[in-house]
Amino acid sequence: MPTGPDDSPPSSPPHVAIVMDGNGRWAAARGKSRISGHQAGVDAVRKIVHHAAKRGTRYLTLFSFSTENWKRPKDEVQALFALLKKFVEKDLSRLHDEGVRVCVLGNRTNLPVETQKLLSNVEEKTRSNTGLNLNIAFNYGGRDEIRRMVQSIGQKILSEEIKPDQVTEEMICKSLDTAGHPDPDMIIRTSGENRISNFLLWQSAYSEFILLDVLWPDFGEREYDQALKLFSKRNRRIGGVDSK
Ligand code: IPE
Ligand code: MG
Repeated sequence: MPTGPDDSPPSSPPHVAIVMDGNGRWAAARGKSRISGHQAGVDAVRKIVHHAAKRGTRYLTLFSFSTENWKRPKDEVQALFALLKKFVEKDLSRLHDEGVRVCVLGNRTNLPVETQKLLSNVEEKTRSNTGLNLNIAFNYGGRDEIRRMVQSIGQKILSEEIKPDQVTEEMICKSLDTAGHPDPDMIIRTSGENRISNFLLWQSAYSEFILLDVLWPDFGEREYDQALKLFSKRNRRIGGVDSK
């Protein structure tokens, strides 16, 4: 076995975001229901949250349910909500013990009251933790987030708190669900699809995209490390030039 720098564990940039895709195809390939694919997807989430913290990732943002996912069959939508509840109830104390701080991104207003309570409870309980910041994007859509941001800044203009020409990029960032978080350094998408699918539209301006041909339930520690290694080879200039 070769030894040397390549064998050392890869380090992580501050913010990794993941479009977890391919649960349905994973299940279909095994003759199972889409719902069992989502169950396997939650098992992958558990492992990755733990592993990301180990690799030094500060923010891990997971796309769990999009504003477009309501179009899916009712029983599948219900199952996704039930899996969120089960994850929070079963994993909350362990996440808390590991110092994970949970933050939920997305539109809460049209969620059932029970789900709203569940989400605010997990945020409240983990608020003072200083370990990994786990962002769960649930009922999240980038366009919907931008719409809500425009509404809130519009209100400030209407109440004459600010003038239209005083709107800054910083003000916009503060009015998004990710207020106070750094932008994602890399966005991983699994399942071989090459789309952003309404995820973090504003925040992804300079994110590196790592597109992997693996279905989400098969994504594990090895794949996370592979993504980190691919990221480390990217040359990020952010509109500038190479520094020598
Ligand atoms: C991603 O897997 C899970 C969610 C969107 C909740 P999919 O359910 O989109 O899986 P495919 O794309 O049908 O394989
Ligand atoms: Mg999909």
